[in-house]
Amino acid sequence: MGKLKVGILISGRGSNMAALVEAASDPAFPAEVRCVLSNRPDAKGLEFARERGIPAVLVDHKAHASKAEFEAAVTDALLAHEVDFVCLAGFMRIVSPTFIERWHNRLINIHPSLLPSYKGLHTHERALADGVKLTGCTVHFVRAEMDVGPIVAQAAVPVIAGDTPDSLAARLLKAEHRLYPLALRLIAEGKAKVNGEIVDIASAAVDETASFFSAR
Ligand code: GAR
Repeated sequence: MGKLKVGILISGRGSNMAALVEAASDPAFPAEVRCVLSNRPDAKGLEFARERGIPAVLVDHKAHASKAEFEAAVTDALLAHEVDFVCLAGFMRIVSPTFIERWHNRLINIHPSLLPSYKGLHTHERALADGVKLTGCTVHFVRAEMDVGPIVAQAAVPVIAGDTPDSLAARLLKAEHRLYPLALRLIAEGKAKVNGEIVDIASAAVDETASFFSAR
């Protein structure tokens, strides 16, 4: 079976994209990164992709008259690079139902909370304000409702006394960088499959997907 051909959508730093690119640089990894696409010309991640010899594509949302035109240009660019699976990695545009339908069950996202808790923005501020003792990150298939969709994998991290949104984000980011490649690998290997609105994990993969706990 050939490798899953992946396009990664970013808007900024792109550290999750970099983690996916690193993982995919292993010849044994079952997915290849065909292109990295940003909606912002100043996205740092574009530079990283270029340095790694991966096509770095800019589709500036400001250069398009409507969301529909912008997203059509994104899909065209992905198809031009023969992408058949899309990873959102800090892509800070809300994608439309049309785009989500176009990439149905071929579009995943990473979100910095244990969904369904803390959808939306400012996840760490809200988690700290609530005094939760565990938070985490989630990789999920994208559905029309924001931060909703079949969950592929999750990782938990502790909230530690004295944490600020920044210290919590930094701890969580390390877990994100482990989780996203794991989730993509399971999908590409056919070990994580959408079944209705749930992702079934193959029994052979249960041990490796058991939500992991990332200490300090
Ligand atoms: C990550 O923490 C990701 O989970 C979050 O943005 C950051 C992007 O960092 N995504 C969202 O908040 C999506 N709603 P990165 O550009 O370094 O990967």
